[in-house]
Amino acid sequence: MTNELKQLFENNRAWANKITRLDPSFFNKLSKQQNPEYLWIGCSDSRVPANEIVGLLPGELFVHRNVANIVLHTDLNCQSVLQYATDVLRVKHIIVCGHYGCGGVDAAIQDKSHGLIDNWLRHIRDIYHRSSDRFQQIADDEQRVNLLCELNVLQQRANVCHTNIVQAAWERGQPLSVHGWIYSVKDGLLQTLGESIDGLQQIPSAYRIRSGE
Ligand code: CO
Repeated sequence: MTNELKQLFENNRAWANKITRLDPSFFNKLSKQQNPEYLWIGCSDSRVPANEIVGLLPGELFVHRNVANIVLHTDLNCQSVLQYATDVLRVKHIIVCGHYGCGGVDAAIQDKSHGLIDNWLRHIRDIYHRSSDRFQQIADDEQRVNLLCELNVLQQRANVCHTNIVQAAWERGQPLSVHGWIYSVKDGLLQTLGESIDGLQQIPSAYRIRSGE
């Protein structure tokens, strides 16, 4: 193994020792069950480590990350995470967290190809095109990307709420709130975007579906 990779194993050992010193039964308890209250849907960006920025330990945050924190109705990976977190783990909060300066969002509005990922990022280009009026007055590239990062969070938060998974949970009276947050890689701070959504009455009637249960 290369020295670089050996270092990761040394780090791992030191980390496990530190946690065990603080709570000798920590890993034993966690090996029996997980009971997270939160589902985090965030960007794959290495600068946005989910657990770390909200100070949560293993077992406390269920996590799905992909490039530019996109929630698609046909993405079986994301939908399966959402379904398991909602129906089985019964998380109380779903957080869609984007970040300013997102490379995926930036790439989505460039006119050059980045390969396969162009297709994934096209969903962000759709948001950009739909909101083109809002971008007309902004000359600064960084500000344009940051506005699109915010609009993307709001769209993906809406997509979470429009799933039959979340709507069925609300219909059976399960407490579940969906949040849009944005993180700044420049100062390490989170901000909320818009209100939390915690019931069918907050989503447009055109998207409401009855589970038929
Ligand atoms: Co990103």
